[in-house]
Amino acid sequence: MNAPDSPIEQRFVALQEFIPAAKSNLPPGPWSYLMGGAESETTVKRNRHALDCIAFRPRVLRDMSKIDSSATFLGRKVRLPVMLAPIGGLESLVEGGAATAARGAAQFGVPQMLSSVCKPGLEETAAAANTLRVFQLYVRGDTQWIDDFVKRAIDHGYSAFCYTVDVASYSRRERDIVGRFVKPWRKDAAAGAKFQSALSWDEIKRYKDRHSLPLIVKGIATAEDAKLAVKHGVDVVYVSNHGGRQLDHGKGSAAVLPEVIQAVKGKAEVWVDGGFMRGSDVVKAIALGAKAVGIGRLTGLSLAAAGAPGLARALELLEDEIRICLGLLGVTSYAQLSPRYLAAAPAVSLPDTFSAFPLL
Ligand SMILES: Cc1cc2nc3c(=O)[nH]c(=O)nc-3n(C[C@H](O)[C@H](O)[C@H](O)COP(=O)(O)O)c2cc1C
Repeated sequence: MNAPDSPIEQRFVALQEFIPAAKSNLPPGPWSYLMGGAESETTVKRNRHALDCIAFRPRVLRDMSKIDSSATFLGRKVRLPVMLAPIGGLESLVEGGAATAARGAAQFGVPQMLSSVCKPGLEETAAAANTLRVFQLYVRGDTQWIDDFVKRAIDHGYSAFCYTVDVASYSRRERDIVGRFVKPWRKDAAAGAKFQSALSWDEIKRYKDRHSLPLIVKGIATAEDAKLAVKHGVDVVYVSNHGGRQLDHGKGSAAVLPEVIQAVKGKAEVWVDGGFMRGSDVVKAIALGAKAVGIGRLTGLSLAAAGAPGLARALELLEDEIRICLGLLGVTSYAQLSPRYLAAAPAVSLPDTFSAFPLL
């Protein structure tokens, strides 16, 4: 890795180079918070495993001289079908927190999802950069409290509102527990915990009856709930297991995606996250039918390594990988992708968060 003062394109020539740089910049507490998962971290590993168990079926001898790797996000053009997944406490990973992330996302040209437990907050993050943005709420108050957030999101140009719903209980993240790392933003969470635990489909119905801002439900992990989401008029079904940070022993997100796509039948968009680290990972999700892929840890790692320029550089490298993958698969745009380009295959290594990066 090159010195911190060398140009960012020379400093980071491959995605894996962000990982040691992030680790050396972060104290042990925030590092464990970023990388950790729940209990045995089986779900974390299965996110990678599910991606590693998909092989490609490439087609050749097609004209690949022009490839379009841009996409649409809630009807607007973006540079990649990739967004920053919501991350609470970004301010513990990079100076400026969500505002720095907004600048990196805007510099490159992808949307940002802002977590309600991230500083500097909804208004300041919107003011930091002009990018497509979505507000993600942890429901920790009554309906008036929620509606106030919806109004603020609309007033500050957020394109959609998101409830994260895989948080009925807060999991045991043992890297944090054993490391005695108490996140400052968790101290406020206790007061609202009863609202979060009590959240049900009734609130989804209430939101859709009352608000027109598109609604995303993040944390769907079964066809049954995907069908319920569609029945309630949800605009985006977001397949996620919170990066393996909530329920342990879940399936990998990429393994859940086919049943959700089938259940949704095109009546809502499907987004996904969990273990996405490489361009080929993104292409697999799109071929399965997802419209957008969220990156969580990769966002945190690149920001911790080199701030907003680091995030923009990581996205550039991801774009390069996506374009190479599309060309080698024989497709010039995402519209041509389908599950016919994929096949089941055994994983070749034991999965872990970094198994996408063999040189580490
Ligand atoms: C440090 C960290 C904080 C997170 N905070 C939130 C959050 O505030 N809200 C939320 O909906 N998901 C949160 N997530 C989950 C991410 O949005 C996303 O689902 C997950 O990170 C995707 O997996 P990946 O990290 O393997 O890409 C967080 C994830 C990480 C790594």
